[in-house]
Amino acid sequence: MPGRINEQDVQALRDRADIVAVVGDYTALTRAGTRLKGLCPLHAEKTPSFTVDPQRRWWHCFGCNEGGDVYDFLMKVEALAFPEAVERLARAVGHELRYEELSPGQRKALGRRTRLSEALAEAAAFYRDALASPAGGPARDYLAGRGVDTDAAGAFGLGWAPDSWDALSRHLLARGFTPAEALDAGLSSQGKRGLVDRFRGRVIFPIADPGGRDVIAFGGRLVPGLDLQTAMRDGTPPKYVNSPETEVYRKSRTLYGLNHARAEIQRRQTVLVVEGYMDVIGLHLAGHRNAVATCGTALTAEHFALLERHASRVILALDADDAGFAAADKARGLAEQAGIREVAVLPLPPGQDPADLSRQGPDAVAAALRGVVTAVEFQIAQLLRTADTSTPEGQVDAYRRTFPLLGAIGDRFLRYRYIRDVVAPMVRLNADLIERDLDAAAPATPGGAGAPAAPASAAAPSRPGDVGTPQRDPQMALERTVLQAALQRPDLLPDTWQEVTAEDFRAPASRQLFTALTAARTAALEEVLELLPDDDARRRVRALALSDLPLQTAAHVDESLARLRAAAVERRIADLRDRLGRVHAAADEHRDLSAALLSLQLRRRALLAGRTA
Ligand code: UTP
Ligand code: MN
Repeated sequence: MPGRINEQDVQALRDRADIVAVVGDYTALTRAGTRLKGLCPLHAEKTPSFTVDPQRRWWHCFGCNEGGDVYDFLMKVEALAFPEAVERLARAVGHELRYEELSPGQRKALGRRTRLSEALAEAAAFYRDALASPAGGPARDYLAGRGVDTDAAGAFGLGWAPDSWDALSRHLLARGFTPAEALDAGLSSQGKRGLVDRFRGRVIFPIADPGGRDVIAFGGRLVPGLDLQTAMRDGTPPKYVNSPETEVYRKSRTLYGLNHARAEIQRRQTVLVVEGYMDVIGLHLAGHRNAVATCGTALTAEHFALLERHASRVILALDADDAGFAAADKARGLAEQAGIREVAVLPLPPGQDPADLSRQGPDAVAAALRGVVTAVEFQIAQLLRTADTSTPEGQVDAYRRTFPLLGAIGDRFLRYRYIRDVVAPMVRLNADLIERDLDAAAPATPGGAGAPAAPASAAAPSRPGDVGTPQRDPQMALERTVLQAALQRPDLLPDTWQEVTAEDFRAPASRQLFTALTAARTAALEEVLELLPDDDARRRVRALALSDLPLQTAAHVDESLARLRAAAVERRIADLRDRLGRVHAAADEHRDLSAALLSLQLRRRALLAGRTA
């Protein structure tokens, strides 16, 4: 892993790359005017909303609202970090990248990490070979008994750690690694008479970084019933031994199987999160290749941030117990923070995990997946299941247990749906009565029931004032149209464009874009984009620049501009009227305001007549 990539190379490559060819590897594009359209490779869709502008070297999907340049595309579709995307493209077009010089400190850290990665890769190969060797026979049998044949074991890089105190440590030293490197990689520990292997007599599950390039850690499982010399040193050893955290391994950021699952997660916009390594492998073998697992930790905010890059929906496989309830609760909070729209739960049948289900065949998995419910539904069901609803008192107590959960749902309609479809049938009471009781118990407060805030599990609310997406509000549609014309066909803008001000727009996002447009020295979109404050704004503007322009003539643009300005005058007139109503009729201020009002009314008339006043 060398240093920073030379910035000029990054630019040159971006300008040189054929974005149509790059995207064309993932989806078929057909020409539509100056652009190309196709089915979005980032989300499942049936009508093409993915657009590429070959001149500007941009892409945007009007379905999933992602967009950017060729690097953004590779980062999204392959889940790469920025430098990885640059390197990928450079390799594809045969461009030799230059790297910046590293400081001595950076070079040392990089060198150390590289050595750790090399030691881990060497260990992975060593374990794989051991599994294929005669000594690996019992481990192979064990895996086969769990449905993992040689091919599957190979696909997941599974291995066998020999029943020896130091077989791997000696191997690493023989390959030129230092004892410090074996220790730092978490592969060995320091014994009295030299290095001792961490993994002994265990089936090995290598854990890869999200990009899938490097092995960063291992999990090792006992094989039941084996009579081993070294594995049992500590009395009753744990079922799994795992790598410690190292310079290259952070559990809170790692998901087992993500390297295999990435493409499928991306395609379905859905990830299935399970607990164990074997669960992931079982689900993948059963055809559910969007499964990943945490590595012996709870899900963290970092996990959700990682998943948000690929999925809008997270399904957690959970037991229907208190621990499952708490996990669902926590996941909803983390998902909301990460911007993941939906958390759902696959309730596990008692005593079964996804690996067991997978072993029962595709039908068993499919049946379980039909039981997927939203996290809120899962939690409500959990609260009610443990309640006694055999008496009227019990029923009332039961539904009231759900109030803290229901009260936190900001969207009234969604809340009512949960009451009607989940709570009411379970307690056999009328939904309207329950809702009334809930309202009485928790009067609408900001952020609570009745407030417009979105709950974690609700669909994303439509965003008023967003100029990037089609609007039903006529004013928003007008602002959108005008800005779209300014972006796409500045040649159609009439002279009166010079008189337009930011105040003529109502939405903050429109004002922001207008200001950037007028501040840009040229009409080049790159420059406009640079003047925008954040990626969100840039995304909206790219969408606008690439969406179909309904107005194709100067007359249309002229008319829209006049309507926009007339609407702004209208708002000022309304404001003046409002102020007039609050001023005494005899006051001087009243006279001034009246005069201003009259001149605005004349101006409005002139604007609508197609002339400027
Ligand atoms: P499980 O006990 O469910 O393991 O623990 P599993 O992966 O399903 O394995 P099988 O099916 O028994 O072979 C779930 C996860 O918890 C961690 C591991 O990451 C495991 O995959 N774990 C479990 C440990 O780290 N140590 C342990 O002793 C047990
Ligand atoms: Mn298991």
